[in-house]
Amino acid sequence: RMPILEQCYNLMDFEAVARRVMKKTAWAYYSSGADDEITMRENHSAYHKIWFRPRVLVNVESIDTSTTMLGTKVSIPFYVTATALGKLGNPEGEVVLTRGAKKHNVIQMIPTLASCSFDEIVDAKEGDQVQWLQLYVNKDRAITKKIIEHAEKRGCKGLFITVDAPQLGRREKDMRSKFSDVGSNVQNTGGDNVDRSQGAARAISSFIDPSLSWKDIPWFLSVTKMPILLKGVQRVEDVIQAIAAGVHGVVLSNHGGRQLDFARSGIEVLAEVMPELRRLGLDKKIEIYVDGGVRRATDIIKALCLGATGVGIGRPFLYAMSAYGLPGVDRAMQLLKDEMEMNMRLIGCSSVDELGPDLVDTRGLSMH
Ligand code: FNR
Repeated sequence: RMPILEQCYNLMDFEAVARRVMKKTAWAYYSSGADDEITMRENHSAYHKIWFRPRVLVNVESIDTSTTMLGTKVSIPFYVTATALGKLGNPEGEVVLTRGAKKHNVIQMIPTLASCSFDEIVDAKEGDQVQWLQLYVNKDRAITKKIIEHAEKRGCKGLFITVDAPQLGRREKDMRSKFSDVGSNVQNTGGDNVDRSQGAARAISSFIDPSLSWKDIPWFLSVTKMPILLKGVQRVEDVIQAIAAGVHGVVLSNHGGRQLDFARSGIEVLAEVMPELRRLGLDKKIEIYVDGGVRRATDIIKALCLGATGVGIGRPFLYAMSAYGLPGVDRAMQLLKDEMEMNMRLIGCSSVDELGPDLVDTRGLSMH
């Protein structure tokens, strides 16, 4: 029998339930990583190489987990990152995540390849709720321009250009489960002559422009006032180039281990990036986010200690939504909040701006 929602005590529990109850093709698409899935596993286990150096005897009676991301005040330093094809897991699709994000006052990043239309996801927001847009850049820049302008008009507060996917990775689990129902909002893809024999990911991604380069960044900056961030940066040299290009931030990410296998985890890259930016006096120039493998509030705390403004979380909310719908997403977010408050108290920090490198022992990382 399926465990009741109250029996899920952490984010991994939702994954275990989802694996049992989801349709095979949907599970294959959500859970797969590239090639041997070494990077996908490393994303989470990299956090296990970092240990805490808690402070004692500080007043931690009240804890404030809130912070600011791209000018938006959020209740806890994570956002719901963009994941394609929400309706594979839940018939209502991405709007379930919109409602969960609203309830917990966190930001949702809307994927280019959502199952719901972009407008449906924007229409599902309430009040002053904030959304960002993840962008796959179309070979036809007129289409891309339209998407960007429309997102800005509909109130999106950040544009995250995915830069780690000039070609979609080989996710063999996904490829093996032959994909019959594309079910995404294909108008964005600039054509519907898709090849369904290669799994869901490849079927929907043929429009992505592999010629995208640094030379295109000024154009993006010229067509929108939204802050622009590059999602999928993996080395300090590229962070420095991003700053020089004038973008507002980067997400240190390997796409949840779905692209280049043997890419390093985001947290490992963060440990490379921040000391070098501080040395160059560039650390205040942009906002740095990390995603991949974040499953515990201690993971969030570690990323913030190392200098991230916030973290993105993907699969856990997909699994929660697939297994239990909105109540699942709600509980997953609440669990993270409870963990966050407790662990900040236990390391001796009452607010997020007190989190710093002195609180972590990173000697287990290859870069520290
Ligand atoms: C993704 N991710 C992703 N990223 C992106 O820029 N555009 C996209 O369309 C998608 N689609 C997508 C689908 C699924 C099923 C997953 C699991 C992931 C990557 C995503 O934004 C993020 O980088 C990772 O999901 C973070 O890792 P975790 O939290 O899933 O471990």
